[in-house]
Amino acid sequence: MSNEEFSPVLTIDGPGGAGKGTVCQLVAKKLGWHLLDSGALYRLTALAARLHGVALEDEVSVAMLAKHLDVQFIPQEKGVQIVLEGEDVSLDIRTEQIAGYASKVAALPEVRDALLARQRAFSEAPGLVADGRDMGTVVFSEAPVKIYLTASAEERAKRRFLQLREKGVEGDIVQILQDIMQRDERDMNREIAPLKPAKDALIVESTNMTIEQVLDVVMTELKRNQLV
Ligand code: DC
Repeated sequence: MSNEEFSPVLTIDGPGGAGKGTVCQLVAKKLGWHLLDSGALYRLTALAARLHGVALEDEVSVAMLAKHLDVQFIPQEKGVQIVLEGEDVSLDIRTEQIAGYASKVAALPEVRDALLARQRAFSEAPGLVADGRDMGTVVFSEAPVKIYLTASAEERAKRRFLQLREKGVEGDIVQILQDIMQRDERDMNREIAPLKPAKDALIVESTNMTIEQVLDVVMTELKRNQLV
């Protein structure tokens, strides 16, 4: 029996900028559950490929890097510090450029396969909140509670823009919207593990919702399933 059968998993999938990251962090903190930011693994793989001069199209070599990623996730007061090969890359992996590269390596079947076991290993007691694109459809297909969190592309671009501004980065909202739409297109139409709601997922359309309202919906769903 796998660990998954012993401890509950909540999956939250959806397109970039829908607020998954924030909601997952809040739920994990509230419940004292583990958190899997699966997007970070694709971002780290893309960054490692760039650092080692490996072409993003070189599936075998990128998959090798993914399998042997030397990474540590170190919980901090606020968020998680991510260390790749001894270097703090917490900020480096969050650029729009790395997001674009991550979306490219994420379309490679061998890379997805290489990251599967690492992702499943995050499922430990007392529970796991898994954030990604295929958490409910592939990685934790047996999870008892699945959410598909989405919002219009315009709203997601606005949220990204404001998030960047908070960090003191002045983004170009038109460019951000274009990048988001391009990434949606790639993530939703790839052959392997495309972004789509699991059949048993609750779809939450958050364009006109606050984070608190989304959090409420997630907690209600967990209670309805007697997980909390
Ligand atoms: O959630 P994010 O923006 O950090 O994800 C970066 C990219 O990684 C995104 O374009 C799609 C890919 N990804 C994926 O294919 N599967 C996941 N489970 C998580 C992310």
